[in-house]
Amino acid sequence: MTASKSNTVINKEHFDHLYLNVNINSILKKINNLHSFLNDATKTDTSWVGMYYDDFQNKLKGKKVLELGCGDCTNAAIMAALGADVYANDISQVAGKFIENLNEQFPFDTPITFIKGDFLESELTPNFYDIVIGKAFVHHLTPNQEIQFIEKIVTVLKPNGLVRYFEPAINSKFLDKLRWLIPVSGRPSKLQRKEFESWKMNDPHPERDNSSKNYERIGKVYFEQIRIIPFGSIERFHRLLPQKYDRKFRRFAFKLEKQLPNRLNLTFARSHLIEYRNPIKSGELNV
Ligand SMILES: C[S@@+](CC[C@H](N)C(=O)[O-])C[C@H]1O[C@@H](n2cnc3c(N)ncnc32)[C@H](O)[C@@H]1O
Repeated sequence: MTASKSNTVINKEHFDHLYLNVNINSILKKINNLHSFLNDATKTDTSWVGMYYDDFQNKLKGKKVLELGCGDCTNAAIMAALGADVYANDISQVAGKFIENLNEQFPFDTPITFIKGDFLESELTPNFYDIVIGKAFVHHLTPNQEIQFIEKIVTVLKPNGLVRYFEPAINSKFLDKLRWLIPVSGRPSKLQRKEFESWKMNDPHPERDNSSKNYERIGKVYFEQIRIIPFGSIERFHRLLPQKYDRKFRRFAFKLEKQLPNRLNLTFARSHLIEYRNPIKSGELNV
């Protein structure tokens, strides 16, 4: 079994299990209250702030959008409710069930199409999609898989197509080292050696470079334009505050970050939006 295959299997098992607890009613509630949900989430909740940065919700209508690693399908449902023609892919078979149920229970203009299984093995039409989305997805791929994915994305995107990834960012080695020392729910500290080793064996996050520089380096080979927007340099401190101030603080933090120098935001980012535009169709290069 190859390294990338075993990473795919670990991910499939992990997420098939995790998604058994997802309640589709919470997704339906969001799309039934679409504008109030987006109005709040895109100012407060990191992944929505990042993924929908720059008024993305108003750029989706009528677009063919492929979402990779659609997971519980909340984002696929939001994009479809906003009028996009959504194709959602995941290795988890549970994701297919969510889409079936969502299509039955919500009157999308165009129902969501599920693309089952590994994206690399799916037969897709070349030059077909306007946008390819990955939300908290790429950091689940090994470095080799990431390159294979981007090469296939280049073939299925239209010539003026756009890739939009929202991913965790690790741009400070010091903060990264510190992070592994602090235990969080479900993950022991690296200092607890045995527990850490056994946790790591089933962790669906492979060893890889999650820095903005890495995404920039790859993007430059395959796309004409790249844009990386960091998030979280101030928002990351929300954990130090009592729960009742959490959402208020986050909203304030995201506003404040816009006033800070980009260099500082990049160094202390917790996540980033990565945009690649205009694929270089001949770009089969080694990176
Ligand atoms: C952290 S989840 C993110 C889900 C969703 N995008 C979200 O924002 O909640 C990562 C998803 O990637 C999927 N995944 C991992 N490797 C994959 C692969 N090779 N092909 C397709 N999906 C994959 C997992 O099954 C999982 O649903």
